[in-house]
Amino acid sequence: VSLVDLRRARIAVFDSGMGGLTVLRAIERLLPGADYLYFGDTARLPYGAKSQKTIARCVVSAAKHLEAQGIDLLVIGCNTASALALYDVREAVNVPVIGVIEPGATAAEELSHSREAIVFATEATVNSHAYQRALARRGFNTFEKACPLLVPLVEEGWVNHPVTEQVARIYMIETLRLAPANCDALILGCTHYPLLKDLFRRVAPQRIQLVDPAEATAHAVVSQLPDNMKLCALMPNAVPTYRFMVTDSTEKFSRMAPLFLNFEVDHVELVDVGQ
Ligand code: DGL
Repeated sequence: VSLVDLRRARIAVFDSGMGGLTVLRAIERLLPGADYLYFGDTARLPYGAKSQKTIARCVVSAAKHLEAQGIDLLVIGCNTASALALYDVREAVNVPVIGVIEPGATAAEELSHSREAIVFATEATVNSHAYQRALARRGFNTFEKACPLLVPLVEEGWVNHPVTEQVARIYMIETLRLAPANCDALILGCTHYPLLKDLFRRVAPQRIQLVDPAEATAHAVVSQLPDNMKLCALMPNAVPTYRFMVTDSTEKFSRMAPLFLNFEVDHVELVDVGQ
C-alpha cells in the first residue's frame, strides 16, 4: 500500500439502543484512526423480546440509512439483531456486514478446552439458537440462558450494585444446575453484559472463562478492513471521529452514553427511518 492510497475507514456500528457502545469502544480501541457512525434504534428498543420479522424490518431500515451515509463497513453490534437479522441485512446493503455471533463463537473456541459453553443473552437471541448453532459447528455443547433482568439493571447504572450481583448469581446457579458439567466458557451474548464482567467474574466458578463478543468483533473488523484503511486505522496516535444517530430522545442518549463510554457525547442526531 503506498502512502497516497491511505484512507480513513468509515465504520458504522448498529445497535438497538445504547448497549452497542460497548462494541464501538472495543473497535475504536483497536482502530483509533477511523471515522465512526453509531446508530441506536432507541425508538424501537428493546429488541430482546421482539419477533424475527419485526427485528429484521427495523435493522434493515437502519442499515439502509447508514449505507446512504457512505460507509465502508457495517457492524451489527446488537447480539439480538445479529442472531435474527444478519442475513436480511446482508441481502439489503452493498457493504460488508459483520455480526457479533461468529466472532463470539470463534473467541470461545480459542479459550475453551472442554468444548462446553454457556451463553447468557436476551430471550430472542436464546430462542434463535444462533450461538448454539455457531458453537455446534465448532464442536461445542452449549447451554443458553435468557437473562432479561440484566439489561434494565445496567441501564439504571447499577453495574456494580448488590442487586445486580444477586440477579446474576441466581441466573448462574439456575444455569449450572442444567449446563454441561465441565463447561469452561461463558459467552456474554448481549451488548450490556461486558459492563458486568467484574460481577460475572465473582459469580462464575473459577474454571469458567468469560468471552466478550464485543472484543472478538473488534478483531474481526481489523481483519476485514482493506489494507489502505487498516494501516490508517491502526496508527497509534490517530484520533477517532464520531457521529451519533438515534431514533428517539437525543437528550436521553447523551445523558446515558457515559455509562458505556469514557467520554461525553454532546452532539446526537435524531433520525427518522420510518416505523
Ligand atoms: N442490544 C441488545 C442485545 O445485544 C440488548 C438490548 C435489547 O434488547 O434491545 O441483545
